[in-house]
Order: sequence, then structure tokens, then C-alpha cells
Amino acid sequence: MYRIPALDLPPLRSADGTVHLPGSKSISNRVLLLAGLAEGSTAVHGLLDSDDTQVMLAALGALGCGVRRDERAGQAPVTHITGLGGRLRVSSASLFLGNAGTAMRPLAATLAVLATTQGGRFDLSGVARMHERPIGDLVDALRPLGCAIDELGTPGYPPLRLHGQAGGSLNTRQPIRVRGDVSSQFLTALLLALPLATADSEVVIEVQGELISKPYVEITLNMLARFGIEVQRDGWQRFTLPCSQGRSPYRSPGRVDVEGDASSASYFIALGAIAAHRGAPVRIEGVGLDSIQGDIRFVDAARAMGADVRGGPNWLEVRRGRWPLTGITLDCNHIPDAAMTLAVMALYADSPTRLSGIASWRVKETDRIAAMATELQALGAVVQAGDDFIEITPPSQWRTGALRTYDDHRMAMCLSLAAFNPLAATAPANLPVRILDPQCVAKTFPDYFEALLSLARADLADIPVITIDGPTASGKGTLAAEVAQALGWHLLDSGALYRAAGLAAVADGVSPDDGPAVAAIAARLDLRFGQGEEQGRTWLRGREVTHELRLESTGLLASRVSALPAVRQALHGLQLAFRRAPGLVADGRDMGTALFPGARLKIFLTASAGERAARRHKQLISKGIAANIDDLRADLEARDARDRNRSASPLKPAEDALLLDNSHLGIEQSVSQVLAWWQQRSPFAQATAGAALPG
Ligand code: DC
Repeated sequence: MYRIPALDLPPLRSADGTVHLPGSKSISNRVLLLAGLAEGSTAVHGLLDSDDTQVMLAALGALGCGVRRDERAGQAPVTHITGLGGRLRVSSASLFLGNAGTAMRPLAATLAVLATTQGGRFDLSGVARMHERPIGDLVDALRPLGCAIDELGTPGYPPLRLHGQAGGSLNTRQPIRVRGDVSSQFLTALLLALPLATADSEVVIEVQGELISKPYVEITLNMLARFGIEVQRDGWQRFTLPCSQGRSPYRSPGRVDVEGDASSASYFIALGAIAAHRGAPVRIEGVGLDSIQGDIRFVDAARAMGADVRGGPNWLEVRRGRWPLTGITLDCNHIPDAAMTLAVMALYADSPTRLSGIASWRVKETDRIAAMATELQALGAVVQAGDDFIEITPPSQWRTGALRTYDDHRMAMCLSLAAFNPLAATAPANLPVRILDPQCVAKTFPDYFEALLSLARADLADIPVITIDGPTASGKGTLAAEVAQALGWHLLDSGALYRAAGLAAVADGVSPDDGPAVAAIAARLDLRFGQGEEQGRTWLRGREVTHELRLESTGLLASRVSALPAVRQALHGLQLAFRRAPGLVADGRDMGTALFPGARLKIFLTASAGERAARRHKQLISKGIAANIDDLRADLEARDARDRNRSASPLKPAEDALLLDNSHLGIEQSVSQVLAWWQQRSPFAQATAGAALPG
């Protein structure tokens, strides 16, 4: 998949509206593994669809579980897992687990136990960072059970090979000891896997050292209970798994509903606390104050800083309370992930914030203490950091630059909140914020930036526009779409609006030359452009017109209706409304002259008539449509003449447009040229001199 190298957020000034949270990562991957081990089928509703759950689903599929995603139009998708019933279906597999700790640790424990008793050979690996994330304490806990585990790279780290002969047995007479002070995921992994070993007797796990991140272990116990396994616990030191008397202990509950992700909620709680200041709150749906996820306790910390948070079952509403926010001193051991969001809220406080108990940050997706310190300093904050704490004094002067995200979804989501710097009470600024590698959010929240920007408001003047005008078949549609994709911006294909107006007029039996009648139709144009997976598709009055819109006959129709001043006027407001954060690429005839005269970059794209006719010819032939190149050229020239000579917004370059003749350029070269021009004009020109931008 193409990854956007950088996303520039304009300065943001307020926020309100509703966000529907994606499912919890912690719950999703635990449920998937338990459903995969259980007998029978489990329908999982609200499953998170992200990198980390994809690797878990792929792993379960490779191990022989049934995995089926049920997507019905208009309904939330449901994932059906048919489990193994505790019996291995394959004797070997090589599983790639990306950077998903919630897949690596539990699968390592599960497959170690299964291979020891049923035989097999399983290799687990991940991305380079996964191979730097410790797993030695889990390996040390499993080996005394009799599990054969080879460390294929650096000892104590993945990749791992788990192997054994059928008929082997597990030594569960002694308590199984595991360290709890580096990652609670080791204990979670054992709790999820060891029911497999409870056929003849109960199994006891003892935690050594002070257990960190206890709320995540609570999620594990909660999910085990959903699958019929009641673990007894003595404090946080000793856990007893009951004897299952020879049966497969995991019982599918049939259906599981996954809560929205409480860690993901933290960004929107912070958003409300910082930016919901005009009465309307930021409303969060999918997780409420009764959540079983420990990170819901972030609410208390946010309130302590000044947030006004209300909530009920499955919803939260957040408003600004005290402003500016107040710095806090907090031990964050109980909310390790959401605590990162406090570090960014600290930028909006009137006193320093000190977060302690966060040593686990150092072994997460990246060394989060170092990463956070570096990037908050880049924004102008004064930061002190130690082994297990970070202290942040808000900027006395904000700076901007390209912020690095370290392939860490939470870094990207946290840093996006710096774009509200115009609101900073102590030292307001008006700076855009560049987030490098923004799509790393796909780990847990693939649509994060869309969700954020659908709630956040920027001043229109701060939302950049690039206009690409030019004659028909000059390739501006493709160029505009690719530039928009590379920048992560919205796209306005204004020609499509005139085309649709023409189609609607014909459908209503109105003459394409009847100005007032076509204008009335254009003013009520019910046109929908597909987003996300529907990108590139278009619906007019609820009917898909993707193909019809591109027909030559429709282009000619558009050329006629677009010559009518009343029609142009009727479509004006609709086109302006496409200017939304983070930015807009607009293509057409008059984007740089009439619609967006203040655009920061204007391109006028040309190519010789011969070249354009040849391109259109190739396009039509490839679609199986018969065409004659001379006729096409004559049509193009006639259309150019009409577009150029009409009195309403004739086709001509804006005075400040840059001319790009692409007669001899491939599309990639044209895209690179436009992006290079844009970078020269962007506020980050200095910062990105060496950064990896396409081209
Ligand atoms: O770019 P296109 O081929 O989809 O445009 C179809 C017609 O619409 C074209 O003949 C000119 C007209 N048009 C216009 O007048 N103003 C625009 N901004 C876009 C298109």
C-alpha cells in the first residue's frame, strides 16, 4: 500500500461533534485468541480492524481456525471464528506478527504449550522493532514446563521457534513463575494459554516482582470468564486456573461485543478538554465510564487537568472545564498507554506536568519516553526525562517542524493534538504541524485523522488549496487525484459536478441550454463521492453514475451546461465547501481564477492537442470503446475553443499559475513536479529538505 510520507495539519481552533471509536485492541486480540482455541463458533461484533488484529486473524487462519468476515450493506461487520477446540490442526506454521505485542506474547505461550503436548513446529517473527521487544521473561516461565523454545535471533527476543513431539507432557506440578515488572503481557499470555494444560489438575501461576499495568490483566481475566474460565486470584501475586477434568476448558459464549478502545478515547477526551469551547461537546461513542478497560481511568487524570467529562454506558461527553489546563503530578502505572496523551495535554497547561511510573514506555512500539521528549522539545516545550518519568513545561514559544512518529501509532495520534496551538493560553501560536509517516496509526485506528478532522475546525484561510486547471484530456484529473493522495488531502473534481448537472438535466427532460432550469437542478444536485473503500465511485440521486459520468457524450453535455453563468453560479457554493482540513486539490477550468483565487499553488496543465487526442484514444480503446483519433482531436479542439471563448469563466491560466506542459512527461514526473513546487511553498520547506517525499 502507498504510504503518505507526511500529513500537514493546519492550525486548528475548536472541535465538536461525535466520534465512533474503533474496537479495543486489547479486547479484540484476546477475544480472537480465545475464540480460536474454543470449541465451536464465536461471532465477534465491533472487532477492531487494524494492523494488529489483521496479523492475529492471519495467524489463526494459518493454524486452521475458521475465519469469516460478514459484511452486509448498512450493517456493522461481524467476524466469525471457528475454534480449534484445543486440538492443533496443523503441525507446522511460520507466523509473521508485525509489531503486535498482543499477538506475539499470547501466541508464543499458546503454541509452546500445544507443541509440547501435541507435537509440531511453529516459528513466530515480526518487524525489526518486534525483534527488539523483550520476551525472555515469558520464555523463562515456559521452559520449566518442558516447552522447547529456540530463540532464533538475539536471546530474549523474537523470532522464536516452539517445537515438540506428540505425546509430551507439561510439568505443571510446581507453580509457574513469571516476572511481572517488565510487561504484564507475559502474565496475560500464560493466563490465556495455560487452560490448555488444566486437563488433570489445576495450574498455579506466581508473579515475581511488582506487577505493572494491572488493568490489562483484569481485561484478560474478564475475557477468560466470558469463555468459561474462572481464574482465582490472590492479590496480584498468585493466579489459579481450575482443573478442566479432561475437557477443552474454553467455552465459546457464541457472541462477543468488543468495546470501543479506551486508549483511543483518550485523544478525543483531550480534544474536548482543549478545544470544545463553544458550548457543544466532543461526544465519544463506543466506550463509557463503566468500561472494563483500565485506560478509562484516563478520565480521572484528564479531569484533574481541567476536563469536564460526563458519561454513561457506552458514551462520554467532554467539554472544556478549567482553562488553561492545570499541570499535574501523577503515577501512571495504571494507564501506561493513555498516559502519553497527558504528556501532550501538558502543552496546554499553565504549569509543569510530571508523569511517573512509566518505565514500560521504553519497551513499547518505540522507546516512548525518548520519543515523546524529543518531539515535545521540537514543539518548544522544556522536557526532562528519566528511566521512568517525564516532566513537561509548556512552550513559552511554540515552534513547528516535521514531527517524527517512530512507527508508533500513539506518537502520531498524540502529536496531532499539537495542531491546536492557536488555543494555547500561555503562548498562543498559529502554526501548522507536520506528522511524518501518519499512517502508522493503522496499528489501532486506521481512520484516526479523518475522525479528528471531522470534529476539528480550522480557519478557512489556513486550509491550503492547490488548483490544477487545464484543457480537456490534459491529464489533470489523474494528476490532481495523485497529488491529493500523496498529501492526504481532499479532492475536488469540478468537471464531475458539471457532468452530473448535465446528466440530471437530461434525466429531468430539461434542455442543456436552458440556463435557469439547469441552474435550479444544479443547485439541488444530490451527488455523493465515495470515500475510503468506495473511493473513485460516484452516485447521483442515489444511483451509481461512475461510468456514465466519464462518457464522451457526458463531457460534451458538461461543456454546454458549464457555459451557462447561472449554472456556474449555482455550483459555486458546493465547490467552495470542498475546502476542508487538511487541504484541497481542486481540478477544473477556473479553480485558480474564479473559485480559489487565493490558492497557495496554482498549476495550469497543458499538452499538445495531438498528444491529448492520443491519450484519450488509448483510454477509450482500453475500455473496449471504438474511437477514431482524428475525430477525437477535432472534438477536443472544438471543446477547447468553446471553453476558451465562452464569456463565463473562460479557460485561461491564472496570472500567478505555474505552467506545466506534460506532453512529454509521465504521470509520476508530473506528480513529482507539483509536489516539489508545493514543498518549496510550504512552511516546512526547511524542515523537509532531506525528508522522504515522493519523487
Ligand atoms: O474536466 P472535465 O472534462 O470533466 O470537464 C467537463 C466539462 O466541464 C468541460 O467541457 C469544461 C467544464 N468545466 C468547467 O467549465 N469548469 C470547471 N471547473 C470544470 C469543468
